[in-house]
Amino acid sequence: MVTQVISIIGQGYVGTAVALAAKHAGHKVIGIETHEKKIQDLSNIGYRVTSDYAEIKESDIIILAVPTPLNENREPDLSFIEAACTASKSHLRKNALIINESTSFPGTLRDFIAPILGDQFLYASAPERVDPANEEWNITNTPRLVGGLTPESTKRAKEFYQTIANEVIEVSSPEVAEAAKLFENTFRQVNIALVNEFAQIANRLGISTYETITAAGTKPYGFMKFLPSIGVGGHCIPIDPSYLSYRAGQAGLQAKFIELANQINQNMPEYVAMRIENEFGVKNKTIQIAGIAYKPNVSDIRESPAISLIHILRDMGAEVTWHDIHVKELDKESSNPISKVDIGIICTAHDGVDYSPWQSGLVIDVSTASNLGWPKFL
Ligand SMILES: NC(=O)c1ccc[n+]([C@@H]2O[C@H](COP(=O)([O-])OP(=O)(O)OC[C@H]3O[C@@H](n4cnc5c(N)ncnc54)[C@H](O)[C@@H]3O)[C@@H](O)[C@H]2O)c1
Repeated sequence: MVTQVISIIGQGYVGTAVALAAKHAGHKVIGIETHEKKIQDLSNIGYRVTSDYAEIKESDIIILAVPTPLNENREPDLSFIEAACTASKSHLRKNALIINESTSFPGTLRDFIAPILGDQFLYASAPERVDPANEEWNITNTPRLVGGLTPESTKRAKEFYQTIANEVIEVSSPEVAEAAKLFENTFRQVNIALVNEFAQIANRLGISTYETITAAGTKPYGFMKFLPSIGVGGHCIPIDPSYLSYRAGQAGLQAKFIELANQINQNMPEYVAMRIENEFGVKNKTIQIAGIAYKPNVSDIRESPAISLIHILRDMGAEVTWHDIHVKELDKESSNPISKVDIGIICTAHDGVDYSPWQSGLVIDVSTASNLGWPKFL
């Protein structure tokens, strides 16, 4: 293996994971991060993390792993990519390979990143697919898509990823790699919305959603099981599809499935709250929500639908507290121990939570966990 100098811009979830994998593979790694507190927190991580962009000057490869959120109009916000490129520009050596791992719409590498940096560099897109807290699939065993602007860029990007991933799949353009990442997450978003809609239909018809999904899942082909829930959260499923619909809109097409799926998923906290109100009443009741992170065993509360549920139930007159072993604070409120309440609601089922104080009361399970002992509400 050829040892290379790799700079990774953005030391968040993705950037640190890639940096550690590159370090482990024997490369020299430099992490660039603008958030001072994060730099301090990462001081013992095993490679250098700094805010000084001048330190990337010897790098063979510069990887962008910065946030790609939506702005207040729910449109792509590429300002972090722009800032990272602008700050790197004067420090790049000729023929450096710039790889974008940040999720974005097709055309971002060719039409946005390359024009900022100029034509003396090589460019490739290699979207990150890592799934936080997934114990089965990680950076090494998840196949990596790579698409370069030129055959030379693809070749060099491929050589690097072969040092950190078991399988590297070359695609014919960066646009295919960028679009594949968005389509994968759109597939999840649409199927989650479909099962969330089905849960509402099944409830109205008096049929068990879970039994029906399990029955459908016995078909050995042409069906994939998704579970209903309070909605989608995190910085991928609620956001990435909107990058695709934005790009479709620019090209004069309306992405109807994506828009509808967003609407259905975003409405789930309201739907759950209304059903609890209709079936049990919520006004003046004490309600505790367990698990406000968007998925099990992580502390990430970005876009978490459990937070919407807290607000909706409070607006309906309930006295709501929350418990999360991984989340310390939400809007200056701390996590409360699980305690006796009128209604306990499990939104996200982290491992190791003791729900026993709820044992004698009403418990509503809207999580995707399979073995909590209470009937599923959705
Ligand atoms: N987290 C995931 O599960 C995941 C999975 C696949 C893809 N992605 C994508 O990867 C990208 C990064 O996601 P993340 O979850 O690591 O985000 P994150 O917010 O955890 O980390 C991004 C880091 O970049 C830093 N940063 C922002 N601007 C910078 C700049 N100009 N220079 C240096 N550092 C800068 C931030 O301070 C932050 O620490 C996004 O495009 C995301 O959609 C994330």
